[in-house]
Amino acid sequence: MSPSSRKFGFVVVSNRLPVDRIEPENGEGSWQRSPGGLVTAVEPVMQANDGAWVGWPGIADREYDAFESDGVHLVPVALSEAEVADYYEGFSNDTLWPLYHDVIMPPTYHREWWESYVRVNQRFADAAAAVAKKNAIVWVHDYQLQLVPAMLRTKRPDLTIGFFNHIPFPAYGIYSQLPWRKQILNGLLGADLIGFQRGADAGNFARAVRRSLGYSAKGTVVEVPEKGPDGAPAIRSVIARHFPISIDVAGYEELAEREDVKARAAEIRHELGDPDVVMLGVDRLDYTKGIGHRMKAFGELLEEGRLDVRNATLVQVASPSRERVETYKTLRDEIELTVGRVNGDFGAIGHQAISYFHHSYPREEMVALFLASDIMLVTALRDGMNLVAKEYVASRIDDDGVLVLSEFAGAADELKSALLINPHDIDGLKDAIMAAVEMPQRERQTRMRALRKRVREHDVERWSASFLDVLSGVNPDRAPDLET
Ligand code: F6P
Repeated sequence: MSPSSRKFGFVVVSNRLPVDRIEPENGEGSWQRSPGGLVTAVEPVMQANDGAWVGWPGIADREYDAFESDGVHLVPVALSEAEVADYYEGFSNDTLWPLYHDVIMPPTYHREWWESYVRVNQRFADAAAAVAKKNAIVWVHDYQLQLVPAMLRTKRPDLTIGFFNHIPFPAYGIYSQLPWRKQILNGLLGADLIGFQRGADAGNFARAVRRSLGYSAKGTVVEVPEKGPDGAPAIRSVIARHFPISIDVAGYEELAEREDVKARAAEIRHELGDPDVVMLGVDRLDYTKGIGHRMKAFGELLEEGRLDVRNATLVQVASPSRERVETYKTLRDEIELTVGRVNGDFGAIGHQAISYFHHSYPREEMVALFLASDIMLVTALRDGMNLVAKEYVASRIDDDGVLVLSEFAGAADELKSALLINPHDIDGLKDAIMAAVEMPQRERQTRMRALRKRVREHDVERWSASFLDVLSGVNPDRAPDLET
């Protein structure tokens, strides 16, 4: 059978494929695996269940045939340069992203962007429908593809459809700004199961459905009025509840145990001038992450003499992201100006206040950085989950290190033994940083043990298994039982 006519019992649909196409100007193109948590979580399910993955290869204006990679059938969806600008950078990342993150930046509403979003969602839905076996399970991911569930249901009513929203779902007072609020809700309600990160996100969604569509939403069940097979009015139940995502905990622990990684951690501290306190921030360079707030707090602590640059330093890794979107360009300028100012005002020869890196690093280097850091600063203004917080905890197999965690990150619902902060309250943030600096070793250990217990018991495998268990149970007479 040719690869393009094969059909699959389990199909994942996400904006990006788990591999990116790299095409150097002078050289051969290749596929590079993206090391995301989602791949780790669903790859074993894919391999055990004859799975296909539908997504964009991350490059514009290129058509690729479906191919196999590590036992998974990959189906690339092509986007033109204009669609990357309108559907991805525009509607997904300059309309929905700021809106869903509590309008930290003003969302832009353009009708052409919306039209592109509809067209591209239809293309993803068509590609998924074309590879799904009868009665297959299809799992759609994230805010870029919220219309896909209903588009799939129209085309393939036999499918069992799940949707997981990786980012927050805002309160109705904010969501209701969206000119296409009804269309998006109806798009999502095409699914049998809609997963969110926090209970509050699922609650916001249920309220939006009640207020905007007038449907009944009790507890975790939304009742969608439809026509039955005989044309008579009927009700279809959609489950909307939270499934907090996690990470490949064992993978991080294995790296943290490696002698070369431990040696690299010691080397990092040494290269930083062997300070008493190393603080760390690791984020995509995004305005939702509160990087500026963290730097402000750190700068003020140096200014007030509560910290001394000769024995306290901040390492900030800011990985490049969405670099053609204007708000991200402005943010980069602002952050780099702040780094320059803090270093200029408080640095000393051989003692930099902030070491700033605008790159991504391999996982080994990240774990070495986690092990080298006494304090991890997660100061997001709004974040669906924040997996970095969980990665730090998973890596601290020595039960040491302090996690300072924003209460506005989804992870705060689970990681209650962290020092929880409100990043807008700069004085509160400064006090929490000082409490972390001064925390006795016994307390650090007790807190870290509790945090580690939580992430070890709730890893990404458990996350995908619990979502897929509920999903395969919604149509017991139709959907295949998945091996998870
Ligand atoms: O958090 C949402 C998310 O889409 C993640 O799934 C992804 O890792 C990140 O944002 C960056 O997304 P992208 O580079 O595809 O815009």
